[in-house]
Amino acid sequence: MKIMVVGGGGREHAIIKKLKENPNVTELYALPGNGGIAADAICVDIGAKDIPAIVSFAKEKAIDFAVVAPDDPLVLGAVDALNEIGIPCFGPEAKAAIIEGSKVFSKNLMKKYNIPTASYEVFTDSASALAYLDTAPIPTVVKADGLALGKGVIIAQTREEAKAAVRSMMEDKQFGESGSRVVIEEFLTGPEVSVLAFTDGHVVRPMVSSMDHKRALDNDEGLNTGGMGTIAPNPYYTPEIAEECMKTIFLPTIDAMNKEGRTFKGCLYFGLMLTENGPKVIEYNCRFGDPETQVVLPLMKSDLLTVMMATANGTLADAEVEFSDGAACCVIVASKGYPAKYESGFEMKLPADSADGWIYVAGAKRDGDRLLSAGGRVLGVTGIAGDLPQAIQKAYKRVEKVEFENGYCRSDIGARALKALQN
Ligand code: AMP
Ligand code: GLY
Repeated sequence: MKIMVVGGGGREHAIIKKLKENPNVTELYALPGNGGIAADAICVDIGAKDIPAIVSFAKEKAIDFAVVAPDDPLVLGAVDALNEIGIPCFGPEAKAAIIEGSKVFSKNLMKKYNIPTASYEVFTDSASALAYLDTAPIPTVVKADGLALGKGVIIAQTREEAKAAVRSMMEDKQFGESGSRVVIEEFLTGPEVSVLAFTDGHVVRPMVSSMDHKRALDNDEGLNTGGMGTIAPNPYYTPEIAEECMKTIFLPTIDAMNKEGRTFKGCLYFGLMLTENGPKVIEYNCRFGDPETQVVLPLMKSDLLTVMMATANGTLADAEVEFSDGAACCVIVASKGYPAKYESGFEMKLPADSADGWIYVAGAKRDGDRLLSAGGRVLGVTGIAGDLPQAIQKAYKRVEKVEFENGYCRSDIGARALKALQN
């Protein structure tokens, strides 16, 4: 089979490595992929947002099955366009991807169908938002409506900070049209859990839970990033909480999308906060998380391609979706300076993959035989073991073997989870 994966980061590398386990995969393309992914797939220089070029490539190669991984092409309708020329795809259509593409849409959906989430107000002009902030409870959370490269959420500790966020989103258009509407919501507290779930619009098959580490520095200090590391499973996510989430969040969400005529097929990402008043939705994503995928897929025992095809054709109820009882830890190695200013082009030497861990490349270029860093998050170094303490140890041991002088990583990925396990 000829398979094509749209995207070019660590998440896509994890998807590609997993797809390759299926012996029926004879040709595997990544659009655009990256210098590290090139070891596992044929990289084609087509940007993930260039829908016309993606469609013509798929047609020319007679691709049998496509996986659209990043949010942008999903929201822009890549799956719709590929389906139109008869190519089956893993991923939601644009009308369902809106669950991530518009926070106003997702908040209104949750309100309408009684799905637990932070209480909120929507504003379409800055004057009303600023007036509301004069009396709103503090801290508060200001969110740009549309996609903003993961930077559209500001947790404001003071009124002034919240107002500055509104001004930069709505008046200075920091995120362009994404900030023309904002959501201002209640600040929630509690452990966060990421749950990725396969769904074909009929059934939901959650994957093993995980925990992201969003801040750049140890002890959750420093700037927010796309994610500096993950562990799975998340010890806060007990079987009882999983059952509650299925009843109060996962199934109601699938139902709600069906009722709205926006059936969701693909991977639905539930960003949850376990509050004193029960689990609540912090955000939905219409795709696999990055770097959650780098710990979730290595623990998947079932065949990914089979599950993805069943998801796309509506037969997920008959598919086996199983995960191992082990644990995984992924430590992101980023360029020094990330998420602010950083430099690229540093040569890297990576240890070989082995049974207890491997490296997913998120940002790299090839220069002949040399692998050069390219981008903010560069590597995802994953350790796999029977339990979390060992998985963490294995990931960090592998990090020590990476040669990349401009790289940095957090030294405490998984520490919070270990503490939770000890309590
Ligand atoms: P998002 O981009 O929606 O994932 O938000 C980024 C991060 O902001 C989340 O992972 C949470 O840590 C935090 N966050 C978002 N919404 C809230 C909220 N209502 N209360 C507290 N923290 C939040
Ligand atoms: N790791 C968070 C995300 O993928 O949105």
